[in-house]
Amino acid sequence: MKIRRIAALKTADEFQKYLRENNIALPFAEKTAALNTPYQLNGKTIGNRFAILPMEGWDCTLDGHPTDLVRRRWANFGRSGAKLIWGGEAAAVRMDGRANPHQLVINADTLQDITDLRQLLVATHKENYGRTDDVLVGLQLTHSGRFACPHDINKREPVILYHHPLLDKKFGIPADYPVMTDDEISRLVQDYIRATELAQKAGFDFVDIKHCHGYLGHEFLSAVERPGKYGGSFENRTRFFSEIVQGIRPQAPGIGIGVRLSAFDFVPFQRGADGKGEPVKYDGYYPYAFGGDGTGTGIELTEPVLFLKKLLSLGIKLVCITAGSPYYNPHIQRPALFPPVDAYQPPEDPLVGTARLISMTAALKKTVPELTIVGSGYSYLQEWLPNVAAGAVANGEADFVGYGRMVLSYPEFAADVLNGKTLKKNKICRTFSDCTTAPRLGLVSGCFPLDEYYRGLPDYECLECSKQQTKKG
Ligand SMILES: Cc1cc2nc3c(=O)[nH]c(=O)nc-3n(C[C@H](O)[C@H](O)[C@H](O)COP(=O)(O)O)c2cc1C
Ligand code: SF4
Repeated sequence: MKIRRIAALKTADEFQKYLRENNIALPFAEKTAALNTPYQLNGKTIGNRFAILPMEGWDCTLDGHPTDLVRRRWANFGRSGAKLIWGGEAAAVRMDGRANPHQLVINADTLQDITDLRQLLVATHKENYGRTDDVLVGLQLTHSGRFACPHDINKREPVILYHHPLLDKKFGIPADYPVMTDDEISRLVQDYIRATELAQKAGFDFVDIKHCHGYLGHEFLSAVERPGKYGGSFENRTRFFSEIVQGIRPQAPGIGIGVRLSAFDFVPFQRGADGKGEPVKYDGYYPYAFGGDGTGTGIELTEPVLFLKKLLSLGIKLVCITAGSPYYNPHIQRPALFPPVDAYQPPEDPLVGTARLISMTAALKKTVPELTIVGSGYSYLQEWLPNVAAGAVANGEADFVGYGRMVLSYPEFAADVLNGKTLKKNKICRTFSDCTTAPRLGLVSGCFPLDEYYRGLPDYECLECSKQQTKKG
């Protein structure tokens, strides 16, 4: 497999020829006008079809308050020109749910700061684009579950729903490690409801009850072997979610609810002898991948479709589709040419991963067209992001195109596309993965290679130095 860099595919013909030669199917529109069309959701007009995906920065204070770095990022989300802000970043509903000691936390103490954060985003949008009545802003609510690391960056404090044979081994969870009890889950449901009440006070249009990336909400969906009312049957595995929704309705009436869903998952991948990612071996039927076909690397959307239909039955329309987890199979979630320091070389052309996400999103939209579907994982497309995005929207394969990393390297990317400006090549995210590597090394996240601001931070030197040491080691 010879992967060609996207920057080397200089014309639309070259790009499409490369796709054909490699049997990669992606939508494509010559013109990007489809992205400039408004969208109606529950009586509200959302001004265009770009969404900013949640992006945390490992840069809050140790008690969960935003810092200037967080404020800068949220202001950039407002400056992006996208009219749907999906979640801002993961906000833990309580302290033990943080994925790192510097995660944003939503509680009574941080409420004013989070209110100001949203206001800053909206005000920045207004300053740049003159209006905000056509902007929808949500807050992503999370408990990090198996990947909780709330106090010390070097010490995970997992909260697990069941013993997962591969992930327990990979992340050193002993066989006698306690599993969350049903009572503890009921208490956590209350924390989500309280967090939603606070998010409503802070002015958010919706909350995202995060069900992706291996965190707790996502783990419920694969808890097939868990006994009791939160495991086993599909009904039981989605009970946590239903209880949160039922609690939110009377407590925070009128707030929108969305879900970011890992709609398919694979077994964990590891670095093979040649440095490339390869699936960890598992004998027999693999039941722990929600949206998997039992082989560990195949997709079966029956249950994800059931979940989406359940959302509809609960009056929920907003869904953002993503996949897998950055901790154990990042290539299916954030396709990259250059892996983060703790990962593996791409096991496939990252365009294959991008196309997989886009086509599965399309399949789900086709099956449940009543939903408002936001796609993910477009940043790897680089120069061709606008055309593929416009193709997806024009074909009805997604209602919104969400991107994450590109907003870190090129905050005004959406505005430039929507205004027909020539893209600024030196700001296009090249998937160097430093924004993932830095937090893996205990540093703040940001676009160190392309954002001058981050190059000026002391963390930049630490990052370069740690990367060299890791390479030598
Ligand atoms: C630095 C970084 C932080 C992220 N933080 C979050 C997060 O807080 N919540 C979430 O759901 N996804 C998070 N993601 C995943 C992104 O939202 C997105 O799904 C992923 O980067 C793929 O989209 P892209 O190709 O446009 O970057 C993060 C990704 C990166 C690189
Ligand atoms: S560090 Fe910058 S260029 Fe690299 S993946 Fe992140 S946003 Fe993209």
